[in-house]
Amino acid sequence: MKLNENDLIGIIGAMQSEIDKLLGLLSKRHDVVLGKHTFHIGIIDSHPVVISRAGVGKVNAAVCAASMIMKFSPAVIINIGVAGALDPVLTVGDVAVADSAVEHDLDYGVLGDPRGSIFYPDASNEIVMPTDKDVADALFAAASSLGLHTLRGTIASGDVFVSDPAKKADIRAAFGDTVRVCEMEGAAIVHVCRLWNVRCGVLRSVSDSADGNAEVDFPTFTRLAAENAANVLRIFIASV
Ligand code: ADE
Repeated sequence: MKLNENDLIGIIGAMQSEIDKLLGLLSKRHDVVLGKHTFHIGIIDSHPVVISRAGVGKVNAAVCAASMIMKFSPAVIINIGVAGALDPVLTVGDVAVADSAVEHDLDYGVLGDPRGSIFYPDASNEIVMPTDKDVADALFAAASSLGLHTLRGTIASGDVFVSDPAKKADIRAAFGDTVRVCEMEGAAIVHVCRLWNVRCGVLRSVSDSADGNAEVDFPTFTRLAAENAANVLRIFIASV
């Protein structure tokens, strides 16, 4: 994948720890504040980038992505950060690259619609939202080049911190075994990018296994996982 030299790369993380490393690489930095979101603009590896901390959850993420698109017109938006593993082969520090995203907490089941159905304002609908294939290919190549154990597949987002094997099983039963990880923002960002026809990707590193140990693992391993994701994104930026 190749971007033009002036194409802006948008990067969104939920928490400060997920964007800190990339902020440290930003040269010629200046900041723009829109509401409670701060957008850090500058250069990484000769590419113009805009980085923002969205805050946790789908609404924060959606507003951050929409503000970024309307104000800065990025050519691509990448959501980075940490995640809980749903695929049993993923352990702490491993990486998941999204080919697609679902909103696992979106449920009109009583009305007869399949779980996760997204009804767009133009009356189209889908459940599994594809990300940009070239972006996913480049993220996967970047992660693999660092020797990180990396799986592609679906990421599942919802406004809930998953820490229960029954909930893990419920998400995979509803959306299939290609769901690799759960987190709380990625699908909201993909959703906004689908609304605005902006290329997007999601890159996550595992901080916990979304099970009964997640409350302990998440604070213990978030820094390591966030650093892995940021390292991958740096290679991605240098490669596009
Ligand atoms: N982000 C990191 N771990 C998570 C989990 N277990 N559930 C939801 N989001 C997460």
